[in-house]
Amino acid sequence: MIKTDKGTYGIDLDHLEEVCKADKPDAVIFVQVLGVPHYKEKLLALKEKYGFCLLEDACASLGAEHSDGSMVGTVGDMSSFSFYFGHQLSTIEGGMVNTDDKELYDILLMLRSHGWAKDLDQEAYDKLIADHNIDDFHRPFTFFIPGFNLRSTDLQAFIGLRQIERAGWVSQRRYENHLRYASNLDGYVEFQNWGEDFPVSISFGALAQSDEHRREIVSRLVENGIETRIYSAGNLGRHPFWVERYGSFEDEMSDNIHTRGFFLPNYPELTLEEVDFICSIVKGLRKK
Ligand SMILES: Cc1ncc(COP(=O)(O)O)c(C=O)c1O
Repeated sequence: MIKTDKGTYGIDLDHLEEVCKADKPDAVIFVQVLGVPHYKEKLLALKEKYGFCLLEDACASLGAEHSDGSMVGTVGDMSSFSFYFGHQLSTIEGGMVNTDDKELYDILLMLRSHGWAKDLDQEAYDKLIADHNIDDFHRPFTFFIPGFNLRSTDLQAFIGLRQIERAGWVSQRRYENHLRYASNLDGYVEFQNWGEDFPVSISFGALAQSDEHRREIVSRLVENGIETRIYSAGNLGRHPFWVERYGSFEDEMSDNIHTRGFFLPNYPELTLEEVDFICSIVKGLRKK
């Protein structure tokens, strides 16, 4: 597990470099946290230096852009997006993986469908069949790798395709709300820093000044019917699934997020006036 960066709240790249030197990982997973892009150039330089496969979790960041104009989801060898309810686009459940590597693409097509090869293009399919010398009768149900059953249904595809038309508007509105939260709450709570990047968040994540301060804010939000929750999962290294296997993971910034973090709502229909109202509740400037 890697420490948390104090700027973007993604992985700490100095710590990643130490881990690369010590453990020589084959693969590194990084998260584009809450629609705030992580340090693309530095990550790619480390990938080049240590030769790991880079997996980009952009699940909650669709539409966000790096300052050079490239979209999140184009940094890793593969990148994932979630279309679970509440994300930038939703098919209720579901998601997608991006890659520009043909070999990985073919593996992904097989992985999502039991490990069979039926979805591959003709050339790749013929090659696998020939390499393994599979006869006509067995071909359709030959499993080349251990796979899952993760295909979207036609209904999910229909719902998702309809939303692509408004994806640009969704990104713009979420960006505007994110900036409005930041300008209202600057100096009162802490939040991610995006520099020249273009953030597109699913929620505005903030850190209260203390555990006690978070309790006060959360109770004001709840009293006013404004939804809130912990910041993502907080420090995953403090959850039972991790602690019971590896012991607890201690890191100042991960623990700050765990003990002081909370979410504020962001969605495209949320107006700037509503963001202002929520911020006045957060700051205790207004009673119910
Ligand atoms: C960073 C990140 N990764 C992965 C996921 C999981 O996505 P899904 O629920 O589609 O499996 C989420 C869900 O919000 C997420 O925020």
